[in-house]
Amino acid sequence: MRIVVVGTGYVGLVAGVCFADSGHTVVCVDVDEKKIASLRQGETPFYEPGLEELLQKNVAAERISFSTTLADAVRASDVVFIAVGTPQRDDGDADLRAAMSVAHQIASSAERYLVVVNKSTVPVGTAARMQAEIAARAKVGIDVVSNPEFLKEGAAIDDFLRPDRIVIGSRSERARAIMAELYAPFVRTESPIYFMDPGSAELTKYAANAMLATRISFMNDVAMLCERVGADMDSVRKAMGADERIGQKFLFPGCGYGGSCFPKDVKALIATARNHGLDFTLLSAVDAVNDRQKRLLAQKAKAHFGAGNLRGRKFGVWGLAFKPKTDDLRHAPALALIDELLADGAVVSAHDPVAMDNARGHYGDRIHFVNNPYLAVDGADALFLVTEWNEFRQPDFVRIKAAMKQPVLFDGRNIWNAQRLRELGFAYYGVGRAA
Ligand SMILES: NC(=O)c1ccc[n+]([C@@H]2O[C@H](COP(=O)([O-])OP(=O)(O)OC[C@H]3O[C@@H](n4cnc5c(N)ncnc54)[C@H](O)[C@@H]3O)[C@@H](O)[C@H]2O)c1
Repeated sequence: MRIVVVGTGYVGLVAGVCFADSGHTVVCVDVDEKKIASLRQGETPFYEPGLEELLQKNVAAERISFSTTLADAVRASDVVFIAVGTPQRDDGDADLRAAMSVAHQIASSAERYLVVVNKSTVPVGTAARMQAEIAARAKVGIDVVSNPEFLKEGAAIDDFLRPDRIVIGSRSERARAIMAELYAPFVRTESPIYFMDPGSAELTKYAANAMLATRISFMNDVAMLCERVGADMDSVRKAMGADERIGQKFLFPGCGYGGSCFPKDVKALIATARNHGLDFTLLSAVDAVNDRQKRLLAQKAKAHFGAGNLRGRKFGVWGLAFKPKTDDLRHAPALALIDELLADGAVVSAHDPVAMDNARGHYGDRIHFVNNPYLAVDGADALFLVTEWNEFRQPDFVRIKAAMKQPVLFDGRNIWNAQRLRELGFAYYGVGRAA
């Protein structure tokens, strides 16, 4: 098939490259000329394991190309994916301006039947609205399909090629058949394709993300209670997760969830509920718990050093990305921590295996960036572990202690052995672990 993907972010580029790799002819379109220029050279504009190799392979095979001109690409296509950003508006709702503007452009450019697939995360009712607005502008038949994306940054290629499930929201038999054909290579291992109406597909995406965020905030509240009553979160978590109705995944407490999805999707689902007269109290609490949790490490530092006593202190921060294996900084807990440390007059030295360029764009010279994690602890009053990159799991703590001014560790992801570190002479603070 001839496929157009609009938006070359984490979702659009991964989808485009994976469809090209299964033999389709793909044109990826973006308004960002710099991105398109670097993609033409086979360079990915962000870090995602395995993506650059797959991109280069498919560029060389001439199965994928890049353009800033949507109209030309649409005229020659069978399916157009919309994968542009749907950021959070001030009122919490999703900003649909980019997605709707792309839909209008597709409608006025199409010269024969095609399927418009909305892959961006959009509130219930968007496909219906898009279908109506396209019908009012198009000369030809166009079916709008909702096909939310569930990939995880850091494992995006594998998630796309071997998804847990595919969700297709469409009432058109013709469009459903095209979508089933398109995804056939990715569901050979019997991953299900769920066909449903577009509104249900749209809601499935938000409900899934909200459920995952709920588990995290729930466990963060349990962790706070552990600290109050002197219980041990690791023991509680493992024994809770052994119940197969609960399971072990997504039960890890920490310094909050971030990223481009959970924070905005939780807020957007609250807004959707509000727009329909429903107070989604549970999700409002999930959101509030997360805001509190993102401030937890700074608060622990203030408790340790004394409030108002961070000025001039030097802190190391390990991990800037919102999670490992990505350079995505959107809503990253590290930013909340660093902002608070800077506001209190502290000096910050940070290291991240891949996100430092993005962080430099954000902070400029307001913090120090070091290429080696050990340099971040040189003369430091404390070290904060914010992103649980693999290389941070088993560092040389003897070397760290020798380099630090004071041996104080704030482990925002509970990845270190508290007892061993205390034996080594560190003051260790985790999340929900007994002091
Ligand atoms: N990032 C994820 O892990 C993830 C996972 C599932 C779903 N989603 C959803 O997918 C959508 C895209 O997310 P993302 O993280 O890939 O976004 P992104 O911000 O990384 O990329 C969006 C791209 O769209 C381009 N764009 C914006 N307006 C455009 C226009 N009018 N025409 C053409 N291109 C345009 C931007 O230049 C940018 O390159 C969002 O709705 C998001 O919620 C994201």
